[in-house]
Amino acid sequence: SWTPDSFVDSTVAELKAKLGNDKVILGLSGGVDSSVAAMILHRAIGSNLHCIFVDNGLLRKNEFDSVLESYKGLGLNVKGVNASEDFYKALSGLTDPELKRKAIGKVFVDVFDAESKLVTDAKWLGQGTIYPDVIESVSVNGGPSQTIKSHHNVGGLPDYMKLQVVEPLRLLFKDEVRRVGRSLELPENILNRHPFPGPGLGIRILGEVTADKVRILQEVDAIFIDGLKEHNLYNEVWQAGAIFLPIQSVGVMGDERTYENAVALRAVSSTDGMTADWCHLPYEFLALISNKIINQVKGINRVTYDISSKPPATIEWE
Ligand code: XMP
Repeated sequence: SWTPDSFVDSTVAELKAKLGNDKVILGLSGGVDSSVAAMILHRAIGSNLHCIFVDNGLLRKNEFDSVLESYKGLGLNVKGVNASEDFYKALSGLTDPELKRKAIGKVFVDVFDAESKLVTDAKWLGQGTIYPDVIESVSVNGGPSQTIKSHHNVGGLPDYMKLQVVEPLRLLFKDEVRRVGRSLELPENILNRHPFPGPGLGIRILGEVTADKVRILQEVDAIFIDGLKEHNLYNEVWQAGAIFLPIQSVGVMGDERTYENAVALRAVSSTDGMTADWCHLPYEFLALISNKIINQVKGINRVTYDISSKPPATIEWE
């Protein structure tokens, strides 16, 4: 019968036979799937696995450094690439959600392509594709997916896409991926992480993305997510985050009138992201988080809570 340990043993043996002494390139996202794929490939081929982790400047607060550190602690051969400025430049002036997604996707492809070329003689592209991705085959919003979709043997593609594709998790469901990750001793902070979209905070800042708005949203998001963890609500929630709204509203601070930005908090329960209900978080918790955000984050004077379910709303706002 299937167990995570037996899956690891048989997959490692298959990967060894298939890959021999070949080099594999893999893009890490910080999420569960790419992390587990990296761990199992690493067990099979060690330092012949070359991981690339791109900072698009749209990650959560401290996420790039802390995730990079955990990957290194796991012995992975991983290169962190800070490409934030490239992403901000490409996003400058853009307000349309689809154009923003396309711009982010294009910079990602360019950065990943340039980095892949530095790994000489690579033969394979490793991906964390899981079974639901195989069935779905197109990302929910038509936006760039966290895994790089493979379309081999087509001309005009980036060089890395001409590599052969190896997808060790393509027959697994999410819960099985987590169990395999646990058996590979991946830390719980990676295994239990909420889903996070590839375009990151770029699609949670409505309207134009700027470095300043990213910094503000990272602070708001961190207060919300840390609060969920402290109150043992994080694992009750399928996904949570904050949205920077493109409006300002009047407030009062001491005896001064303020005119500052508003944010929305979103927390949903779901099993696969296809449908979702808004979470009935305790009022006391929401009150605490709202106070903390308004007191601690300069530039925000109003907090709202999104009470829309999917459908007809989506989980993300863009
Ligand atoms: P929506 O907003 O369509 O989101 O209800 C459903 C789930 O998909 C995630 N999502 C993405 N994930 N790349 C991703 O890797 C994307 O472009 C993308 N867009 C949405 C979203 O966070 C939610 O979990």
